[in-house]
Amino acid sequence: MSRPPLPVAVLVSGFGSNLQALLDATAAGRLNAAIRLVASDRPEARALERARVAGIPTAAIPPGLFPDRAAWNDALHAALRDSGAELVVLAGFMRVLGRELVHAWQGRMLNVHPSLLPLYRGLHTHRRALEAGDAMHGASIHFVTEELDGGPVILQARVPVLPGDDEDSLARRVQAREHEVFPKVVEWIAQGRLCWRDEGPWLDGGRMAEPVVV
Ligand code: GRF
Repeated sequence: MSRPPLPVAVLVSGFGSNLQALLDATAAGRLNAAIRLVASDRPEARALERARVAGIPTAAIPPGLFPDRAAWNDALHAALRDSGAELVVLAGFMRVLGRELVHAWQGRMLNVHPSLLPLYRGLHTHRRALEAGDAMHGASIHFVTEELDGGPVILQARVPVLPGDDEDSLARRVQAREHEVFPKVVEWIAQGRLCWRDEGPWLDGGRMAEPVVV
């Protein structure tokens, strides 16, 4: 029997190319998900416009509207919960979430990070890979835990650094791979192949000892 579409909420801050990849995969039948909500900390995010075009409910929840970070996190949490989502996808969401929120969604929240974690947590990952002279760079899809960019990695897409690469050219190639692999990992969850059990990720019935590398 076929499974019902996985209800998903997506958090975004910017351009939204990863959101677009998820929308396109859903429309093309490659991803069995129903995106119930796209929420952003930045009302002007281009990603929100992409969601509107796709007819998906949006919410702008900027921290500046709230008395403190806890109140902002509560508002975000309420929006995610009320959307009916079973999975939260951080697709270029550029703010650190509060502990309670992360706990509430532990095992049900994924992030895409533009480096081969544990290398280069945080910002400016392409610049840092170039400065280090790395031959290989890439992107990681990981479950979100309290540790920033530190949750268990599910999949890594490796991207060779080419002679003459600058930050932009490298970022473009890494992002192109993100757009391929992010919907794929979400689909693993939609299919029930990937889940969180006993404090860690399981794929195809076995506890994951290391990420899938592509
Ligand atoms: C992506 O490169 C992702 O790895 C990082 O932020 C970027 C978001 O890009 N977390 P977009 O908004 O999806 O175009």
